[in-house]
Amino acid sequence: ASSTEVDVSAIEPGQAIKAVFRKQPLFVKRLTPEEIAAANATPTGSLRDPQSLAERTKEGHADILVTMGVCTHLGCVPLGAAEGEVKGEFGGYFCPCHGSHYDTAGRIRKGPAPTNLEVPEYEFTSDTVIQVG
Ligand code: FES
Repeated sequence: ASSTEVDVSAIEPGQAIKAVFRKQPLFVKRLTPEEIAAANATPTGSLRDPQSLAERTKEGHADILVTMGVCTHLGCVPLGAAEGEVKGEFGGYFCPCHGSHYDTAGRIRKGPAPTNLEVPEYEFTSDTVIQVG
């Protein structure tokens, strides 16, 4: 299985880019301080799929959110990575197929998707480059 390298240095705060990992869409987002605060303000226990932002990011890189761009309902590609302000009701991603709303940490908040957007295995190989897979 092949891995994917992404240079995160050019991603502006509030911007998400699309890449490809194992032939599936991958979203890499740099969160703004407000987006981080919104994620951290949500009680984890209230979530359908309870995970904190810290559990979904790497230590020292809480602003870089790496998820698959695959809705966990039936596999559509959510909007919000390249569509500007289309972020759904919780400020993250929105799947238009059946209306799943993901928050700024990519966690399911409303709609039929059962689980959060998957965080793939990845690591920082430098301050600015991640290797996924
Ligand atoms: Fe995303 Fe159904 S596939 S809501």
